[in-house]
Amino acid sequence: MIPYKHEPFTDLSIEENRNAYLEGLKTVEAYLGQDYPLVIGGERVTTEDKIISSNPSNKEEVVGRVSKSNRELAEKAMQSADKAFKTWSKVKPEVRADVLFKAAAIVRRRKFEFSALLTKEAGKPWNEADADTAEAIDFMEYYGRQMLRLKDGMPVESRPGEYNRYDYIPLGVGVVISPWNFAFAIMAGTTVAAMVAGNTVLLKPASTTPVVSYKFIEVLEEAGMPPGVVNYIPGPGGEVGDYLVDHPNTRFISFTGSRDVGLRIAERSAKVNEGQIWMKRLIAEMGGKNTMVVDKEADLELAAQSIVKSAFGFSGQKCSAGSRAVIVEDVYDEVLERAIELTNELTIGDPTDQSNFMGPVNDEAAFKKIMDYIEIGKGEGRLVAGGTGDDSKGYFINPTIFADLDPKARIMQEEIFGPVVAFTKAKDFKEAIDIANNTEYGLTGGVITNNREHLEYAREEFHVGNLYFNRGCTGAIVGYQSFGGFNMSGTDSKAGGPDYLALHMQAKTTSEMF
Ligand code: NAD
Ligand code: ALA
Repeated sequence: MIPYKHEPFTDLSIEENRNAYLEGLKTVEAYLGQDYPLVIGGERVTTEDKIISSNPSNKEEVVGRVSKSNRELAEKAMQSADKAFKTWSKVKPEVRADVLFKAAAIVRRRKFEFSALLTKEAGKPWNEADADTAEAIDFMEYYGRQMLRLKDGMPVESRPGEYNRYDYIPLGVGVVISPWNFAFAIMAGTTVAAMVAGNTVLLKPASTTPVVSYKFIEVLEEAGMPPGVVNYIPGPGGEVGDYLVDHPNTRFISFTGSRDVGLRIAERSAKVNEGQIWMKRLIAEMGGKNTMVVDKEADLELAAQSIVKSAFGFSGQKCSAGSRAVIVEDVYDEVLERAIELTNELTIGDPTDQSNFMGPVNDEAAFKKIMDYIEIGKGEGRLVAGGTGDDSKGYFINPTIFADLDPKARIMQEEIFGPVVAFTKAKDFKEAIDIANNTEYGLTGGVITNNREHLEYAREEFHVGNLYFNRGCTGAIVGYQSFGGFNMSGTDSKAGGPDYLALHMQAKTTSEMF
């Protein structure tokens, strides 16, 4: 087996790669507007009621019309997943892993098409879409190998005349609920982790990005996934989500999304419903209010570049995005000024044009929410860049900086999930870390300093799941920077990390006397 190595990002400055991306866009344009069914037990199920997936840069452009599940179809999918579990859970781990490796190979061959689809359906600029596709490939390659590592269990002690084993067995039917912001990577990663561990899956993708998930189901089928192992049931979170979360046959839930929905699922999944014989396991990866801290002994150009990239990459819609900058007062003005300059140089527009650094935000609801927060910010701080938006054709918001915030201001505390960053001043490094820790979240954070003692202080005191030194706070790579947060950022399950697959299994001890 070739050792795991992350999928390299495509060098999009090379003409051949640029042409391949344009070809990818043509491939996707040829299938825009098509209808997609649900997939239950391998069968295609078409409903009258549809989810319309549209291009956030051009709301008139329909990416796809996707059948919408309801409670009845969710129940049918549950029965099919329950049935498939009986056989899939007995399939050898090596065979299950091979499905992932083959699926990774298929996606790698169609990489430009998948990235182009993310540009159309999720509004991702080329480099961001390429990274999303690479991460999806990484999850398949990484979790496949993790399964091979865990297939014979873990070593435990035996004694003369007594042979002990510690084996991992699958859990059962898992409900996978995924977000739109890593519409491919997180949807695929959470799905394949569950399935390679021997479970069967009910996949409910986000309603704004269902087409890329359908295309992924086709890939899994081509790679040899048997019917019923992953069932594709897009539908309204409130109706289908609640139904499946409450279902007595649901053994575990793997959720990635907002704090509020995560907490709702935590509460509902804790309740034991009639016929249920287990406590449901919950993996919940939720929101963040991530901070870049800048010390006075620091490379200030690196600081400004890192803040801007972390805040505005994919329009600030990464769970890892840096939406707060806490700067030690001695260098505050200099870093702020440079960040404003860099922000004013950013290009915004349709992401099918490679020259645009930033595309749109997700949809009308996101546009409204972010613009509302910009209004709140105007009352709380000093608007020094951006602050405007245009939703006439697509949902575009200019990268926005607010300065001089009180650390407890709303835009310093609440997840905005858009291209807005708030700056605040700290009297020294220790106070900067205190401010960084003053939210209920704990997902990512970054520290820019050349002071070794301060790095060590941050390593101990900056309470986030993913802490980065002298770089931005986005861009975790599967197998390298396992990803997951503390406190209200979730259960810290560390996607792409060495413990992640074990969360999808249960350990069984057997002890035999000879
Ligand atoms: P969301 O919570 O609105 O939706 C996430 C998923 O939950 C969607 O599929 C949605 O349909 C579904 N859902 C909605 N209501 C539901 C219910 N009652 N029961 C079950 N499912 C329901 O989040 P979003 O807007 O899609 O994604 C953005 C959020 O996700 C941000 O808060 C972001 O920080 C977070 N996020 C976190 C991570 C992480 O790893 N920590 C990664 C990506 C995104
Ligand atoms: N891998 C993504 C990031 O860290 C979640 O931004």
